[in-house]
Parts: sequence; C-alpha cells; structure tokens
Amino acid sequence: MDKAELSRAARLAHLRGEGLAKGDPVPLPLTMASIYHLPGDPAGFRQYGRTDNPTIETLEGALGFLEDAEAIAFPSGMGAISAAFFGLLKAGDRLLLPSDGYYTTRLVADRFLKVFGIVIDTRPTASFSDGGFAGYRMIYVETPSNPMLDVCDLAAIARDAHAAGALVVADNTTMTPFGQRPLDLGADIVVAADTKAPNGHSDVLFGHVATRDAEAAAAIRAWRKLAGGIPGPFEAWLVHRGLETMEVRFDRMCGTAEILASRIAAHPAVASVRYPGLPGDSSHSLARTQMSRFGFLIGLTLESEGAAERFIAGCPLIQPATSFGGVHTSAERRARWGDAVAPGFVRLSVGCEPADDLWRAIEASLDALVR
Ligand SMILES: Cc1ncc(COP(=O)(O)O)c(C=O)c1O
Repeated sequence: MDKAELSRAARLAHLRGEGLAKGDPVPLPLTMASIYHLPGDPAGFRQYGRTDNPTIETLEGALGFLEDAEAIAFPSGMGAISAAFFGLLKAGDRLLLPSDGYYTTRLVADRFLKVFGIVIDTRPTASFSDGGFAGYRMIYVETPSNPMLDVCDLAAIARDAHAAGALVVADNTTMTPFGQRPLDLGADIVVAADTKAPNGHSDVLFGHVATRDAEAAAAIRAWRKLAGGIPGPFEAWLVHRGLETMEVRFDRMCGTAEILASRIAAHPAVASVRYPGLPGDSSHSLARTQMSRFGFLIGLTLESEGAAERFIAGCPLIQPATSFGGVHTSAERRARWGDAVAPGFVRLSVGCEPADDLWRAIEASLDALVR
C-alpha cells in the first residue's frame, strides 16, 4: 500500500518505527545528555546539549510530520512565540497583534519588543483585516482567539499580508494541526503551545514553531541556540508520548464539546455561549471553511462572578485551573486575569471524560444556580 494514502494520524503512530534497526526499542528512548563523545573535528556530529539532542530531534520530526514543515521545539508556548518575534523582527519593523488573543503575547511585545524600536498595533480578531496590512513586517493572528473564540480568515489575511510584504504568524494553540492547518492556508509560520492538547496531560510546558520558510527556520533555530531557549529532553519525551494519543484525545474532546455546547446554551442559567460549532455563533461560517473541527473550548457567560465561581466549584468533573487542552475537563473565569470579558465569563476546556457523565455533572451544577 502507498503510505501517502494513509492519514497523518495513522502514519504518525509508525513514524519512529520506519527508521528502526533490528533490536532497537520501539518506544522513543530518553537521552539525557548535555555533552557528547566528540574527539577531533566536531563538524557533522552532535556537539552540545544546547543545540543537539536525539530525543528532541525525534519529537521535532514528529511535530514536523504533523505540520508538514520544519518544526523547532521550545520549553513553552511563550518560548516559541518569543523566538518568532526575536528571531525575525528588527528595529523599525511594525507588528500587528490581536487585541483579544492570549494576553501574554501582547505583554511580551509591549514590554520587550517596543524598547527595541518595534512598533506594535493591535486589532480585534473578528475584524482583523479592517485597515489592511500596508507597512507591516509581521502579521500575527490567533484563531480561534483565546478566550473569546473569535476567528479570522487565515487565507485572506495571508494573501493580503503577502501582497503588502509581511510575514504571517499564526498561533494555532487552540486548534492543533488536527483541527486547523494555517500553513496550508498560506501562513508562513505556526507557533503553538504544546503545553495544551498536544502533550495533553497537564504535566509539561512546551511549544514549537513550524515553518516551510527555510530562512525563517534558520533564524529561529539560531535564536534558540544563541539565546539558550532549548527544552529539556524529558519534557520532549513526554510531549512525544502525548502526540501518540493526540488524535484520539482531540477527536473525543471536540466531539464532546460539540454535544455540550448546544445543551449549555439552552440552559436557563446561561446568558450566552461562544462556540464556533454552534450555527448561530458569529465564528461559525468562517470556522466551517478553515477548521476541520470546532475545537474543545467553550465560552459561557453566567450571570455574575459569583455564579461563575459557584458553577465551577459545584461541578465534580471540572478542575478549577488555568490552561486548557488536558484530559481533565477544566474551567476558569477569565476576568480574573484581566481579559476583557464579562465577570461571569467562563472558559471551559472539555476533556476526555465520557460525554454523558460530563453533561450530567455540568447540568447539575448549572441547575443549582437557578434553584
Ligand atoms: C493561545 C495561547 N498561545 C500561547 C500560550 C502560551 O503557552 P505556554 O503557557 O506554554 O507558554 C497560551 C497559554 O495559555 C495560549 O493560550
């Protein structure tokens, strides 16, 4: 059979197997090493742990296979995002960011890029193209945005940004390569927090950059090597293990979120719901064209801060925690971090629990708010 006919998920499971010699372990060995046996001329050999590690290389191979691009691993999602900024921008460049995406990205730009003479503008994700892209060096999008789940048109933005001479960077954390493929839609660079669904078990911070632009990849790899932002091999090993089940977890999480979103929206305790899979959601029509799943995040607005806290605390199958994409369903009020959302807005990250159990637990906790 021609392997090209197989899905990415099927091939990922056997990627390492393709290169094994007789007697090799089938699972990925963990190599903890900062130094390598290196007598004489070092060229062409692993040299030092800040540049080379076989466990990280195998993980990058798997991430690159998923992205169909070169992947470069980082110790966190923010490490990957910062590398794209510091590796590719210079004084005088203009950077356009979403005003409603993950707030730390804006903080990094505001605090550390501005002082190097990079000019920063922001726009809401839902109207990101308004105003055009003339004069920008980098257009950075996050779609669906965290936490409000607005979306922007990746293909149209890539087309218009390229016409204006800008690079397009897409944060694909909320979707993963199984739910959305920004590089196929024209983005130059993907950044992602593998801390979330790719690792999936809430026990690791990790990130990656993926790109088909060899020059950008070389610059970002050089930034990592020189600035020292290399992940630990054990974390890479854990993420590699997580990737082996990502497709099944992501499928379950998105499937359950699709079931729950309309039920939550219909509950009398709920003022409103954001979920790109709901036909009435403002993200829906665009989401259908550029996402293959609608994701596992649901935004629900309850009456007040108190109602939101009671809902989270009262549900035995919701872990009160920041972050998302883990096997355990989790939730938090995003206003507690200063996001521009209603005090009763809850970001719910749907996990891998059976959908019926999860709905019964969520329904009971919502019922308690209106009793
Ligand atoms: C959309 C998005 N991008 C990037 C990050 C940063 O990832 P990390 O926490 O691994 O640095 C996060 C973290 O929540 C996120 O939600």
